[in-house]
Amino acid sequence: MSPRKIIIDTDPGQDDAVAILLALASPDEIEVLGITAVAGNVPLPLTAKNARIVCELAGRTDIPVFAGCDAPLARKLVTAEHVHGKTGLDGPNLPDPTMPLQEMHGVDYIIDTLRSAPANSVTLCPLGPLTNIAKAFNDAPDIIEKVQEIVLMGGAYFEVGNITPTAEFNIYVDPEAADIVFKSGVPITVMPLDVTHKALVTQPRNDAFRAIGNTAGIAVAQMTDFFERFDKEKYGSNGAPLHDPCVTAYLIRPDLFTGRHINVEIETGSDLTLGMTVADWWGVTDRPANATFMGDIDADGFFALLTERLARL
Ligand code: BDR
Ligand code: CA
Repeated sequence: MSPRKIIIDTDPGQDDAVAILLALASPDEIEVLGITAVAGNVPLPLTAKNARIVCELAGRTDIPVFAGCDAPLARKLVTAEHVHGKTGLDGPNLPDPTMPLQEMHGVDYIIDTLRSAPANSVTLCPLGPLTNIAKAFNDAPDIIEKVQEIVLMGGAYFEVGNITPTAEFNIYVDPEAADIVFKSGVPITVMPLDVTHKALVTQPRNDAFRAIGNTAGIAVAQMTDFFERFDKEKYGSNGAPLHDPCVTAYLIRPDLFTGRHINVEIETGSDLTLGMTVADWWGVTDRPANATFMGDIDADGFFALLTERLARL
């Protein structure tokens, strides 16, 4: 089978970085057409820079990287330096990128790429707030039929929230964008906190990354060393969750994940529960299913895959 064509939309972020590295290390399964940066974990100039740092870390200066939206559709940007550090990629000491940022706006790139693609042929992989994707769908609704699937990291049901008691960061930052995407009619696969909080980088797993011995493996170990302090303190867990790599791992090994095809709505009205993913896990409404909402992961299989692929870089 030919590799699946994807656009990665991202706000790197150490876990975004690992997701991108996993995709770039897996050319048999995944063809990365381009990467669009969005404001999220840190402001846009940093996410656009970090995306290029990660491409260079993978030796892939040929991947076009675009800057997209610098703020949510209708709200002020909320960032997460408290998790990811001032640069968004704190941990390893990586050189500034030398590859250029593309001139075209990231949203225009998404529109142009989809317009020139056959129907159902490109998968979108959002790893941050859904601003770029929603703006592209709003500006050019004709592209929606070109999308094969959206596989995204965002939301939560049993885990409820991480940035507020009821909301996960990516959805909370731009709930209006998330609402547009979840109502778009495109097949959506969601990696919520329910899954990603089971993908914990324990010490032996991080030792395995470091033991690969290549630049990518060591950098990933150092990134994880940095951002695990936050989750360990907050949840008392024994490692940091690798949220975003669940998206790219799913494209390679969907069998590692299980979930339910259910209705998911986004709260955009209430201040108290803004950005909540109201997931009808138990089927108590007759609202139509619009997303496959994952609930579980084979974490050992996931880390074995990651370690094996990072070793290829
Ligand atoms: C999500 O928010 C960001 O901080 C991470 O990169 C991930 O995409 C987890 O809630
Ligand atoms: Ca992210």
